Amino acid sequence: MSEMKIDILTLFPDTVHAVLHESILGRAARKGAVEISCVQIRDFTENKQNQVDDYPYGGGWGCVMMAQPLKSCLEHVMAAAPGKRSRVIYLSPQGEPYTQETARRLVRDYDHLVLVCGHYEGVDERFIEACVDEEISLGDFVLTGGEIAAMAVADSVCRLVPGVLSDEQCYIGESHWDGLLEYPQYTRPELWEGREVPQVLLGGDHEKVEQWRRREQFRRTKAKRPDLFARFVPADKNDEKLYEEVKRESGRVVLSEPLVCRAAAKEDLPDILRIVEEAREGLKKQRVDQWQGPYPDEKHFLFDIDRGECFVILHGAETAAFFTLSTRAEASYAAISDGRWTEGMDAAVLHRCAVAAKYRGSGMAEKLMRFVDERALALGLRCVRTDTHRKNKAMQRLLRESGYRYRGNLQVFVEPGHDTARQAYEKIIKIRK
Ligand SMILES: C[S@@+](CC[C@H](N)C(=O)[O-])C[C@H]1O[C@@H](n2cnc3c(N)ncnc32)[C@H](O)[C@@H]1O
Repeated sequence: MSEMKIDILTLFPDTVHAVLHESILGRAARKGAVEISCVQIRDFTENKQNQVDDYPYGGGWGCVMMAQPLKSCLEHVMAAAPGKRSRVIYLSPQGEPYTQETARRLVRDYDHLVLVCGHYEGVDERFIEACVDEEISLGDFVLTGGEIAAMAVADSVCRLVPGVLSDEQCYIGESHWDGLLEYPQYTRPELWEGREVPQVLLGGDHEKVEQWRRREQFRRTKAKRPDLFARFVPADKNDEKLYEEVKRESGRVVLSEPLVCRAAAKEDLPDILRIVEEAREGLKKQRVDQWQGPYPDEKHFLFDIDRGECFVILHGAETAAFFTLSTRAEASYAAISDGRWTEGMDAAVLHRCAVAAKYRGSGMAEKLMRFVDERALALGLRCVRTDTHRKNKAMQRLLRESGYRYRGNLQVFVEPGHDTARQAYEKIIKIRK
C-alpha cells in the first residue's frame, strides 16, 4: 500500500503520466511510496461520439465539460480507493492560491487525492457543487487546462511523502518551509567566470555555515519577498537576533557583477577619499575614535599608489572598496604587549582599508579580505598582520571571521591626539590544494 495515492482525471493522461513518472517521482512510484494514476475522462462518456464537452447555455464562446463523464470517472477512482482519506480537488483559476502550506496540509490530512483537470471553458458548475471538496489555483492567471496545475500539486505533495526524498532534511529549510526563502546554493568550481563561492562555505566550520545560511535566508526573503519577511515570526532567540539585524540593514546592494581588484591609480583618489569620508562618519556614529582626525588623507594614498600598494575593488564600473597592503615593516608593530606575533614569518601589513557605505552588508568586506589574501600570496607572503581600534567591533568580527587571530595590543603613531590603542591581528593563510 502506497503512502499517497493520486488520481488525475484528465483528457491527456499519457502526457501527464510521462511527466510524473520521470526522475524522483518515477523512482518513488516504482518503490511504492506513491501511486499516481492518470485516468482518461473520455472513457466514461455515455454518448457514441465520446463527447466530453458541449456548448454553454446562454450562449458565449467555447465549450464546457459535461458533468456526467466527470462524475462517472470520479466514481470509478473512488471505488478503487475504499477506506482511504480522499479529497477531490478541482484545479481552477477561481480556487485558493496554492502554497507550500497547502501541500503540507494535503499530505498530513489525506492519503488519496483526486485532481480534476478542466479544459476548454471549464466544467459544468453542477459537477463542482456536487462532487468537489476544494478548488486550488496555481496563481492569478489562466491556463488552457488543469494538467499543469495538477502536475504541480502532485509533484509538490509527493516530495513530502515519507520515503520519496532520501531524508526529510531535503525539504526542511527549503523555500517556504518556515515562511522564508532558502539561502543561496553553490557547487563546483570554486571560481566561475570571476564569481566566487562565499568563503564561509569553504572553511568547514558547520556552525558558521549554519549561521551564514540563516542570515542569508532572512536577507533574500527581505529583498525578494518583503511580504513574507514582514509576516515572519521568529521561533527562537537566534532567529530573533538575526531577524532584527537584517531588518535594520538598509538598501543592501546585491553583488551581481564579478569583482575586479586592481592596483589603484591617481584617478582613483576621489573615490578612495569619498569612501574614507563615509568610513569616518560610520566610525563616528559607533563612537570609535579611529580616523577621526586628518588621517588618512591624500598624501598617504598618493604614497601607497606610488608604491603600487593601494588596491581598489570594482563592482561593475563602481569603486566599492580599497585597501593598502604593504611589504614594509610597520614600526609600531615592533612593540606588542600581552602577546606576540608568530615568529620567523615575513608578513604583509594590511593598513588602510574601507568599504563604500552603500556596499555595507553586501559581503564586500569579506571579499576584500579574500583579495588581501590573494595579493599577499602573489607577493610570496603567507602571513598578513594588521591592527584595529579596540572599540572597532565590526572590524574585529570581520578579521576573526576571515581567519585572523588576536595577537595582543599595540599603540599606533599615526593619529596623535586620539585614542591610539589598537588590537593586533595576524593571519597565516592556508594554501588550498
Ligand atoms: C481556460 S481555463 C477555464 C477558465 C474559466 N473559464 C475561468 O475564467 O475561470 C480551462 C481549465 O484550465 C484550468 N486552469 C486554468 N487556469 C488555472 C489556474 N490558474 N490554476 C489551476 N487551474 C487552472 C482549469 O481546470 C480550467 O477548467
